[in-house]
Amino acid sequence: MLTSLMILSSAFCESNSSKQEKLKWWMDARFGMFIHWGPVSLKGTEIGWSRGREIPTAEYDTLYKQFNPVNFNANEWVQLAKDAGMKYIVFTSKHHDGFCMWDTKYTDFNIMHSPFKRDVMKELADACRKQGMALGFYHSTCDWHHPDFPVTSPGGTVRRETSNLDRYTEYLKNESVEILKNYGPLLVMWYDVPMEFDTVRGQGVIDEIRKVQPDIIVNNRTGAMGDFDTPEQEVGGFQNNRPWETCMTIANQWAWKPNDEVKSLEQCLHSLIRSAGGDGNLLFNVGPMPDGQIEPLQVTRLKEMGQWLKKYGYSIYNTRGGPFKPADWGVSTRKENTIFLHILKWNSESPKIVFPVLGMEITSCILADGGGAVKLTKQRGTYTIQFPKEALRPVDTVVEVHTAKSVMDIQPVNFIIKQ
Ligand code: GLC
Repeated sequence: MLTSLMILSSAFCESNSSKQEKLKWWMDARFGMFIHWGPVSLKGTEIGWSRGREIPTAEYDTLYKQFNPVNFNANEWVQLAKDAGMKYIVFTSKHHDGFCMWDTKYTDFNIMHSPFKRDVMKELADACRKQGMALGFYHSTCDWHHPDFPVTSPGGTVRRETSNLDRYTEYLKNESVEILKNYGPLLVMWYDVPMEFDTVRGQGVIDEIRKVQPDIIVNNRTGAMGDFDTPEQEVGGFQNNRPWETCMTIANQWAWKPNDEVKSLEQCLHSLIRSAGGDGNLLFNVGPMPDGQIEPLQVTRLKEMGQWLKKYGYSIYNTRGGPFKPADWGVSTRKENTIFLHILKWNSESPKIVFPVLGMEITSCILADGGGAVKLTKQRGTYTIQFPKEALRPVDTVVEVHTAKSVMDIQPVNFIIKQ
């Protein structure tokens, strides 16, 4: 039987078995908290991108001198991630603006030189370790503040007259190693925007951090392939031969924005459920406020997601996508000898689902959470499931299809559904 690990090793991954185990854990986890935070939250504009755009560069680069998030409490952040049903956290150690959120010896442009004078990454790492939360860091490959980086703000559109990419690359490697040594072991290093970095240079960064932590997983934004793909602000398409993770904001900006609109619970949960149905993860972003607290509206939404996952998380965690590929009506996930149909959109009076037999012998079919009877009939090559419209649930109606044997090696197919 082809397991996800065997599929992965035959695709794009190196042979390091413990890295495979970490990848498998990460894929089973399905749901992580992304946190974009820095002195720019004082302005409520986008981190990195508003430097030299909405905010003059000189002003942007001195914001840290006013940054004093006295209400920052790492344990509260980790508890919120747990309440949301999230299994890992990825925090911005350095964004495109070059500001370092840890006590680094490689530059004074860091959090210890703000009025706050506290190593937030150490506090976050300690809180994660104490509460059993996996941790990773988002670390911008590009750095528009660093004099050796060839391009600068706004948005990397201005080329510096003098620069030294090799020296900058050493700086980036030194930062990465320092983070791993001081706050690791980590689940993931999440690089971003590999301007000026080709595959060789990017792979050099990955090789360097693997000397410190061989099983660290790395995304595809150093300039090299890394271990997983990273569709952004949209759910990725079905892909089960290489891991992937959609990154998405809970509101409309990565960093905190005053009066920003938080997405509805249905939008938030559908992003997670559709990611899982596509055999991917969701890294869902919050942007803490300048005082260190997370916006109450975002806290409320995350806790509502956690309530849903308390009840239905067994159809998301430790599953793979398929065997029916995502469609407009919904998606499917699978685990051993159970297929979970996630009906996300329905517009007919009598819900009727018709799907191919695929060599399966269905032993039982129920609506999750005791949602009522399901009528199952078998024609020549198809099964039909019918249930009363009243049984439909808001957000997601989960149907459990139990089969006589494992469904994990069924090749994914497009699903036919007649409503
Ligand atoms: C994009 C943005 C960056 C953000 C990242 C999150 O690359 O440029 O600002 O941090 O997405 O994935």
